[in-house]
Formats: sequence, C-alpha cells, structure tokens
Amino acid sequence: MPQSKISSGPDKDTDENSWARARSRFPVLEKKTYLNSCSYGAMAIDVMEALKRYIDDRMTKGCDWNYWVERNEAVRSSVAQLLGAHADEVAVTASASAGINSLASALNFDGPRNKVVISDFEFPTNAQIWYAQELRGARVVRVAESDGYIPVEKFEAAIDEETLIVAITQVCFRNGAKLDIPAIAEIARRKGALILMDGYQGLGATDFNVAAAGVDFVVGGMVKYLLGTAGIGFLYCRKSLIENLVPTVTGWFAAQDIFAMETTRYNPSPTARRFEAGTPPVVNTYAAEAGLAVLQAQGLPAIERRIGELTAAIKAAAREAGYSLATPEDASRHGPMIAIRAVDDAALVASLEADGIVTSCRDGNLRVSPHFYNNEQDIDNLFSALQQRRHLLR
Ligand SMILES: Cc1ncc(COP(=O)(O)O)c(C=O)c1O
Repeated sequence: MPQSKISSGPDKDTDENSWARARSRFPVLEKKTYLNSCSYGAMAIDVMEALKRYIDDRMTKGCDWNYWVERNEAVRSSVAQLLGAHADEVAVTASASAGINSLASALNFDGPRNKVVISDFEFPTNAQIWYAQELRGARVVRVAESDGYIPVEKFEAAIDEETLIVAITQVCFRNGAKLDIPAIAEIARRKGALILMDGYQGLGATDFNVAAAGVDFVVGGMVKYLLGTAGIGFLYCRKSLIENLVPTVTGWFAAQDIFAMETTRYNPSPTARRFEAGTPPVVNTYAAEAGLAVLQAQGLPAIERRIGELTAAIKAAAREAGYSLATPEDASRHGPMIAIRAVDDAALVASLEADGIVTSCRDGNLRVSPHFYNNEQDIDNLFSALQQRRHLLR
C-alpha cells in the first residue's frame, strides 16, 4: 500500500506538534477519517462552544438584540480580514446565492454591455442566477473546459467590449480545478468588465487578498473551509463600486438607518450592507465568528502550505496506486480538493462511509478534500480502504 509522505522542512517536529494540537480541537477526527471539507468542514470545539453560548443566552436572557447585531458586525470584520478588505466592503448574507442575487439585481442589462461570462466550472447557483438575468436582457456566455481545465486564453477570447460582468468560481466543486483568477481579472479590467469570484471552494484554504487577485466582487459561505455552519454567507464589493450599484433585491437590514423603520421610501446603506436583506442569521453568526477565529489563529499562509502538503501526498498515493485523477496534476491549477475518477462514485462513497471514512462525490469522481486538521494517517487510511475497493475506481 502506498504510504503518504509529508515533509515539512527543518521545523518538522515543532510543526507536526502544532498541527496535532490544532487537530485535537476537532472531535469528529477521533471517530472518523474525515476528508470531506469541500462538502462540510469539521466542527471545532470552539464552534460548538459558540453555539452552546447562543442557547445559553436564549435560555438566560431571552433575547439580546444589541449583542446579536454586534456578532453580525464581528463576522463582517472577520470576513474583511480574511479577504484583505475593509468591513464597509462586506455584506453578511444568508447564503452565497443571496449575495449573487442582490448584486445581479443592481446590474443593468439594457445597455451595449449585457454579456455575462461564466464557465463550465460553476456551481449551479452561479450559473442559474445569471441565466435568470436573461429575463432582464442579459446574455450568458459559458467558457468550456477541456481535459478538466480552462486556460486563461479561453477567457481572453470570451471577454469583450460587450461584457458587463465575468462571474466565475475560484475552485471547481466537481474536480477541484483552480482558475487563474488574477490573470482573468486583468483581462476583465482591460476590457472594461466587472469580475465576481465565487470563493466557496477555496476561501479558508488559501491565503487570499482581493487587491492582489484584482476582483471586484467575491461571494462565499461558512459551510466548508471557513469552519462555520450553513445559513450564512457574504458578498464583498469593491468600495469604489458600491455607490453606483443599487440593488432591487433588498430588505430592511440593507437600509441606511435600519432602526429608522422607514416605510415610505427606499434608502440603501452607503456601504456594502446595501446588499443585505432581512434579519441577520443570528445563531449562524455565533458559529461563523468562532470558525473564522480558528482560521485566523492558525494563519492562512500556514493553512495553505499545510493543505498543499496534504494534497501533494494524496496525488502521490493515487499515482502510485495507478488511479486516474480528474484534478489537474499541477499544484498551481488545483485547490484543496483532489478528485479521483470512479466507476460508481456513489457506491464508493457509501462503502467508504461504512468503514468510517467520510468523502463525497460529484460527476463520477470521488472527492477527497483535506483541511489543515487532517494528517498523514487519514490519507493512509483512505488509500488502504481504496485498495480494497479497486474495482470501484478507474
Ligand atoms: C462553489 C460553490 N458556490 C456556492 C455554493 C453554495 O451556495 P449557497 O450558499 O447559495 O448555498 C457551493 C456549495 O456547495 C459551492 O461549492
């Protein structure tokens, strides 16, 4: 059986100890080989305690709106820190879909620029919402993948003077391929188009900065690598664009003065809060704040390096076993998930689950998605189990 090898350089011992300490904060890892962060991140003790705090607050105080609004603001600041942005550039939303919908509603497709460029790598929501805008005059153009990747040249050809917005994923949810966002953003800028990045499958696993990436908008959510929970997401909007984007998908928490309780006019916030809608997802803000704090304590550059070592070990073990990867081999072309081609992906996931190994599948591929809390043993467990199920792999 191939043994995975993770070398962490000269400080290997100290490094391994510190990763082991971090791992011990995720109790599910004592019970399961959990390699499914692309679907749902493992829950840290810190997140569990935060959720318990919410229950305690409800049981002892009944309600505490001022404190809850503060929690929402804390999430806004932490997301801003994660992206290298300003808090005024972040809307806290109920989902990534909510952020994309609010942004789309602020765009005008009546002019000469009415084209939306998406790609074959999109998660359904970032395709369906843009196709829905065809009812409002948009024209959606889809950039095709070939051999599991989409080179920058294909975006160069698709983005033109009629393009209003390029709306693309950072990392593909099916095969883990990572688009060259800075290069595509440069093309969009040169041709006068806006660019939205769906960071759901990459943020929390990568050291990311909006200015370095050159993007105008980012959406994401807390379910996966951000270690929070479902029911909360965010939209980043570059400061200089906010004023001229007036969403028609809105609600009272998007108003300039929320507690003015205006019922005679629409007066959106001057900040990115204008992309929000109704009552904040109170319980989810507790989990999101705690999850983001765990990531910040660990440090995103260290997390990205750690995940890089783990994905390299997964690719090496797959290669040695003769399995076929659906993910591009080149480390600069994939994110934290490695996809292995399966004969019957659903049967494989169910069979691994029966042995306590948690993975997921899409599009005929087994998705193996480590986070910083995984280790060499997890990878060895997976590949021993796969060896016994060779007939289910290509
Ligand atoms: C790339 C990507 N975008 C978006 C989503 C989900 O978006 P929402 O928060 O609207 O459910 C997912 C979830 O799996 C995803 O992988």
